[in-house]
Amino acid sequence: MNNTRRLLLVILLIVETAIARSQNLSWTETAPGVWKVVAGQPEAYDLIKASGATPNKEALAAIAQASFPLSQSDISIKVVDGKTYLRFPLQKEEQLYGFGLNFQTVHQRGKISQLHVDHYGGKDNGRTHAPTPFYVSSKGYGVFINSARYLNIYAGTAVRKDSKTAPVVKDRNTDKSWSSRPYSDAVEILVPAAGVEVYVFGGPTALDAVRRFNLFNGGGCLPPRWGLGFTQRVKSLYTSEEVKKEVAAFREKGYPLDYIGLEPGWQSKSYPCTFSWDSVRYPNPAGFVQELLKENIRVNLWTNPYVSPDAPFYKAIIPYSSSHTVWNGLVPDLTMPQARTLFFDQLKSNQVAMGVSGYKIDEVDGYDHYLWPDVASFPSGITAEQMRQTYGLLVQRYSEEIYHQQNKRTFGLVRASNAGGVSFPYVIYNDYYNHEDFITALINSGFSGVLWTPEARASKTSEEWLRRFQTVIFSPMAMINAWASGTKPWSYPEVAEPIKQLALLRMQMMPYWYSAFARYHFEGIPPFRAMNLEEGFVPEIKKESGSANLEENPYAEAVSKEIKDQYMAGDYLLIAPLFAGQQTRKVVLPKGKWYDFYTGAFVGDGQVITVTPGLDKIPVYVKDGAIIPMMKPLLHAPVAGERVDLTVRYYGEKPGKYMLYDDDGETYNYEKGDYSWREIKVEKDKSGKLKGTISASVKGKPNTVGNVTFEFMTK
Ligand code: GAL
Repeated sequence: MNNTRRLLLVILLIVETAIARSQNLSWTETAPGVWKVVAGQPEAYDLIKASGATPNKEALAAIAQASFPLSQSDISIKVVDGKTYLRFPLQKEEQLYGFGLNFQTVHQRGKISQLHVDHYGGKDNGRTHAPTPFYVSSKGYGVFINSARYLNIYAGTAVRKDSKTAPVVKDRNTDKSWSSRPYSDAVEILVPAAGVEVYVFGGPTALDAVRRFNLFNGGGCLPPRWGLGFTQRVKSLYTSEEVKKEVAAFREKGYPLDYIGLEPGWQSKSYPCTFSWDSVRYPNPAGFVQELLKENIRVNLWTNPYVSPDAPFYKAIIPYSSSHTVWNGLVPDLTMPQARTLFFDQLKSNQVAMGVSGYKIDEVDGYDHYLWPDVASFPSGITAEQMRQTYGLLVQRYSEEIYHQQNKRTFGLVRASNAGGVSFPYVIYNDYYNHEDFITALINSGFSGVLWTPEARASKTSEEWLRRFQTVIFSPMAMINAWASGTKPWSYPEVAEPIKQLALLRMQMMPYWYSAFARYHFEGIPPFRAMNLEEGFVPEIKKESGSANLEENPYAEAVSKEIKDQYMAGDYLLIAPLFAGQQTRKVVLPKGKWYDFYTGAFVGDGQVITVTPGLDKIPVYVKDGAIIPMMKPLLHAPVAGERVDLTVRYYGEKPGKYMLYDDDGETYNYEKGDYSWREIKVEKDKSGKLKGTISASVKGKPNTVGNVTFEFMTK
């Protein structure tokens, strides 16, 4: 190398470092507790643009104040050769959560992945239905990369020669503690674009960081009340008569049902789809939908978005579709208004207008062998990769818009989402069927701004059926998906009765679920979430034989055991499912007193308990001072404005306080302030007797609360 070239290189390096430095310094607080930096030239299309998410700044401001949670000088952002290189520091006892809807692990430190929308293929490698580029730290902050690209993540795996906390070099010949994975002190991310927006969310707690992320994306969805009831999806080729018979069977047998899902057979052709009713199986669709609506049963329709040559708008949408097809169907470029109008007008006029309550939007995730390839092009100029990362967002956003325009809430299913989709009223599902992993996904959904259902389809044994059903009831969407199996809740006679009792319990708990979702919407608290977000939760520390403890060993990673089979539901409940074959399990109770949900008895305080609940029970534990509002086991959710008597359960001995959310349950009027929170309290009176009160209904606001009685569970 000659001197001039050397000089040029040095200058280049200095300039590069200067750019990197100046970028590190330009963090701006864009919303309370949310800091943003713009590196290089971000692309015009990103996750926030695709979803249209807007921050709820007022709600963000209501969280305890936070200061920038990281050392800014330890963050490095560089744009080199058309790519952006990000680095964030890690401390030695720090654990990471998130990076999307993972199915097998909660702890993400030490993982390498490429975030890529896909169906879940059995490995936590970044390919999943919602690979949200957001992570949360146990130190109480979060980081979000607003990119619609496939991102390479090194979550505390790589070691730099300039690391301030470099691991000790060890000799493998002689040192048994040599490791192929030496300690790493950074999260490093490669963004394949010459710039990107990065957001840091303050705490102070990890839950606060999650809340900020959710609220920054508009807050969680608030489903209609009926969305939190029970839903059954029927066999693919059912006719309207068969569906009506099934609905009647639910009623006659006394199993609750709020909405019924029709699978591909409602359409005249599917894969690709016509988006039109099949005239043989559904000769009078409007009459059918209306008849069910009269019985308080809503209809949800399966579809994928790939357009059949027999769809009424096929020809018109050709110019607004991708270069490549999926199952020979056109892929609408949903970033273009022309495509959206053609596509969604068909759903609106042909289905929503007659009263269809929502959709299950399938196949917007993957699989590479049938989805459009990365070399496909779209007329808007959005690349195939960006479209892959955001198609789930687009279908949610614009289908929900139809319902918004009519001022009717919807609640449906989708198989792909991403950051920005927090407020969409859709629940993710898939074709995988490992019960344990379904629960881990439910836990991780709370770190990713999405909802997940551990749907039950069929089971090898009645035991498995009951165990799966128990978790379905304690999830965002209580559903049997019988599209292939044709199962019903009563299909396994030995457990038909406990299944019924569980389905009715779901209905009884509707006031609790509804307020939990209101918290998701207004406060950003995920209704279903990891133990790691719970105050007082201390996972068991794994004692590795021969290894020094954390304090003595400066290079030891956080080695706490991950808890991926128990989770929090709403404010007060800890759910500890059992899986087929299990009779006994351990439950890690956070600090504080915990009580049995069914009996009110004290079970433990900050300890690990072993429980043998029997087949009919899913272990559920309640925090001290908990207030759980419940209603009668109705067979359908209360309709708009219907008054319902409440039985308020109280557990433990601490004074209890709970905010009960109320609105009409069906419209978007809550967005205009038509809602109320009523305070429920339980305290001891002068004589030491427990007494419960509820604040008066708020004048001029919807009031669906009838008589309130209190049940003191802990004797
Ligand atoms: C699958 C989907 C199933 C079911 C099926 C119908 O892609 O995951 O839940 O809807 O399609 O063909």
